[in-house]
Amino acid sequence: MTDHMNGDYIVIKAKDSGVNVIGLTRGHDTRFHHTEKLDKGEVMIAQFTDHTSAIKIRGKALIYTKHGMIDTED
Ligand code: TRP
Repeated sequence: MTDHMNGDYIVIKAKDSGVNVIGLTRGHDTRFHHTEKLDKGEVMIAQFTDHTSAIKIRGKALIYTKHGMIDTED
């Protein structure tokens, strides 16, 4: 992994079933490359990588990053 992509992790905790965690591609073409569905209470730890520049979360969830915690319902 190159320096400007520091491989941060985020934690997503689903507060409801059917939360989607969607990885978007790095580079000129920004598109979905992976969708993961979480059930209520499930936790996913996801990393920014050479292939993933953005992560989109749909549904009721708590998201923990180095910038703080975000509740998608707030
Ligand atoms: N193959 C993907 C990658 O290495 C896996 C992945 C990493 C991913 N972070 C993600 C998928 C976040 C969805 C959301 O980049």
